[in-house]
Amino acid sequence: MRRENTVCLETPASRLVLAKRGGVWTFAHLGAKGGDPAELAALAAARPYACNHLAAGTAETYPAFGSSRGQNGFSLGDARGALQARHADGDVSVDWETRSCDFSPARGGAPAEVAIVYADRAHPSFTATQHFAAHADCDVFETWVELRHEEEGPVALSRMDSFCLETAGLGDRFHLLSLSGQWASEANVAEDELLRGREVVLGARSGVHDSWENAPFFMLSVGPAPAREESGTVLAGALCWSGVWEMRFRHEWSHELRVSAGAANLSGPYVLEPGRTLALPKFVFSWSERGKGAASRALHAWARRHLMPHGGAPRPVVLNSWEGVKFDLSEKRLVAMMDGARALGAECFVVDDGWFGRGAFARNDAGHGLGDWTHDPEKFPGGLAPLAKEAEKRGLRLGLWFEPEMADVESELLQSHPDWAMQEPGRPRRLQRGGGQVVLDLPNPAVRDAVFRAIDAAVRAVPGLSYVKLDSNAEIANFGSPWLGPERQGNLWFDFTAGLCEILARLRAAHPDVAFQSCASGGGRADFGSLAFADEFWASDNTGAQQRVLVQWGWSQFLPACAMAAHVTASPNRHTRRASSLKYRFDVAFSGRLGIELRPEELSEGEIAYARRRVAEYKRLRPVMQGGDLYRLASPYEGDHAALLFVAPDRRRAVVTVCGLSRKASDGRLAPLKLPGLDPNARYRMREIDLALPGEAQDTHTVFSGKTFSGAALAAAGIPFDLGPGDDSFVLELAAVRS
Ligand code: GLA
Repeated sequence: MRRENTVCLETPASRLVLAKRGGVWTFAHLGAKGGDPAELAALAAARPYACNHLAAGTAETYPAFGSSRGQNGFSLGDARGALQARHADGDVSVDWETRSCDFSPARGGAPAEVAIVYADRAHPSFTATQHFAAHADCDVFETWVELRHEEEGPVALSRMDSFCLETAGLGDRFHLLSLSGQWASEANVAEDELLRGREVVLGARSGVHDSWENAPFFMLSVGPAPAREESGTVLAGALCWSGVWEMRFRHEWSHELRVSAGAANLSGPYVLEPGRTLALPKFVFSWSERGKGAASRALHAWARRHLMPHGGAPRPVVLNSWEGVKFDLSEKRLVAMMDGARALGAECFVVDDGWFGRGAFARNDAGHGLGDWTHDPEKFPGGLAPLAKEAEKRGLRLGLWFEPEMADVESELLQSHPDWAMQEPGRPRRLQRGGGQVVLDLPNPAVRDAVFRAIDAAVRAVPGLSYVKLDSNAEIANFGSPWLGPERQGNLWFDFTAGLCEILARLRAAHPDVAFQSCASGGGRADFGSLAFADEFWASDNTGAQQRVLVQWGWSQFLPACAMAAHVTASPNRHTRRASSLKYRFDVAFSGRLGIELRPEELSEGEIAYARRRVAEYKRLRPVMQGGDLYRLASPYEGDHAALLFVAPDRRRAVVTVCGLSRKASDGRLAPLKLPGLDPNARYRMREIDLALPGEAQDTHTVFSGKTFSGAALAAAGIPFDLGPGDDSFVLELAAVRS
C-alpha cells in the first residue's frame, strides 16, 4: 500500500512500514500486522531519543557515509553507513535525495514491491535503486540494491552493504543466534546476548567457503531471553551470497539496534566504472512473534517457493560413490555399485571425483586433472555413455561431480592457460588441496566462458545425465586476478562470486532439468546465494551420524530439509571413527534428502533388506519431510537428544524423528513430545516405523504406537516416550484417520 509519504508492505503476518522524511525514506515500523501505517510512522517519528539522528526519525533505508542527516554527518553508531563511496572527483561523502518511489502491488505469484531511487545531491548521476518486496504466501521480505553512476571516472566503494536496518523502540535486550564452524564441523549454533554498547561482527573471508567460519544467516531475539521455538519475537535474516560477506549487529547504549549485511571487500575498495550497474546481493528477512520455529518455516517456504529451482519437486534418493571408492573408479566397480544402488531402491547414482583427466593428468589423486572435464580413457575406454546405459538399464538416473572454480596446476587447462588462475604478480603461487590446486580467475569473462563450455559439453556427452555435484575445495589464497589489472584488484572478491553465479546461471539455463548440488568441501556453500541455482547442498563431509544430528539441527534453522543432502555411510564412520547402527544412521538421514554413500557390496543380506525397507519408507514419506513444515521439538544443545516434527501441508500426515546423543541410563525421564502444527480436530494414528534389523529386538519407543489421538491432545499433553542409552533413535509416522 502506498500513500504520499508512507509505504506499507505486508506478508501474511507481518508488515514493514517505510516513511518519507527530510527527502529520504526511513524505516518506520517492522512488526506484526495491525494499526494504521501512517499512525505507526507518526509514532515512530515522535520517539524521544536523546543522542542521535533517530530522534529526528531519519533511520534511512540506505544510510551512507557523509549524509547531512546523520549526527555529525555520520549514520547511527557506525561512521561508515551501509555505503561508503569515493567519487571520481575525490569527494568521500554521499548525501541522498529521493528521485522516485514506485510501488507495485502483489500480482499473481509476484510479491508487492517498492523501488526507491536515491541520487546523491552533489553527484546526481550516482544513484542507488533500493527494492523491497513482500511475499503474500510466506512471511519473508526481500531487499536488494543496484548502484550506478556516470561520473567522469570510477567511483571507489569501500563499503557496499545490501541491507542496513537502524531501528529504535524494538526493545532493550537482544540475543543473537548465529552458525559457526569449520570443515567437518559446520553449522554449530551459538547464541549470546548482544550487549548494550557493543557490536558483533560475523563474516566469512575465504571467498569460497562462505558458510564455514560463520554462515550468512542470523536470528535476533528481542526481549530479556532468547526466543523459544514456538514463542518469542525474532528477526531472522540471510544474505543471499556465496562469497566474502560481513554482518554487523550493534546495540547502542540508548538501545537502538543496527543490523547491516553485505558483500565485503578484503583487499581494497570496489572500483565501479561509469555506466556499469552493480547489483548487490539480495538480503531476505522474516519477522516472527511466534518464535524461531515460525521464522525458520517462513524461510524454508520462501526458499522452496521463490528461490530454489524445482523447489516443490520430490528429491531422488541418491547413491554417491565418494566414501565408497574415492578415486579408485572403474566402469566395473561403478556398475557393481549401481547393482547395489538398485537393490537398495536408490533412484540416482552419482559418480563423484575421479572420472576425468588423462595421461599424466589423470585424476587418480587430489593433485591432478582438475579443470579437464573429459572422461579418463583408461578408466572409461568407451567414454561415459556405456555407464549411462548401465544406469538406465537399472532404472537409475546418473550424476557427475565437477569443481568449476578451480584447477590443478597439473592439468591440460592450466598448462595451456597459466594466466587463468589467480596469482599476485611476482609472487610464488600458494598451492592447496593435493599440492596443486588453485582458484581460477573467474572475474575474467574468457575463463568463465571456458569453464561453462567445458562443463556444458561434459554434461551433453552423457546421455540422460540428470544430476551434477558442484564442489569447491580451495580458498582464494592467491590475492591477484591477472585479468583485473592493477587498478581494480579490490574487485577480485565480488567479481569472483559474481563470475561463479554467471557460470551457474548459464549451466542452469542450458540444463533446466538437471539437479545441481552445491558443495564446498562439505558444507562450505550452504547459503541462499547457492540455492538460487542449486537444488540442494552438501551439509558436511563429516557423515558421522551423531555429528550430523547437530549439523542438521544447525542448518535447519534457515535451510529447508528438501535441500539438505543427508547420506547413510559406513560404520564406523571414517571421520568420527564412531560406530552406529544402520537404523540410527537411517533415522538421522530421514530428516533431510536421504542418500547413501557406501559400497553396497559390503552390506550383509540382512542389512540390504533393512536398507531397502528404509528407502521405500522414505520414498513413501518424503512429501512430508521434503515439502512439509518443520517443528523442532527438542534441541540436542539443551538435552541429550534431538526431536523433529514434519507436518505435511494438508496436515493429514506427519513424521517425528528422535535421535539420542550418548544418553546415559541415569539420564532420567524424557519430556513428552508435544506436537504443534497438527490439525487439533483431526485424529492421528501413530506408528513407529522400521524398528530394527531382522534378528534384533523389536522394541517400540512409545507404548502409544498403533494408537489414535486427536491433534489437540497431542499438542497439549504430548507423547510419552523412551530412549535407550547410547545412540538410540526412532521414527514415528502419524496419519489422520477418517472419523
Ligand atoms: C569434497 C566433497 C566430498 C567429495 C570430495 C571429492 O571434499 O565435500 O563430498 O566430493 O570433495 O574430492
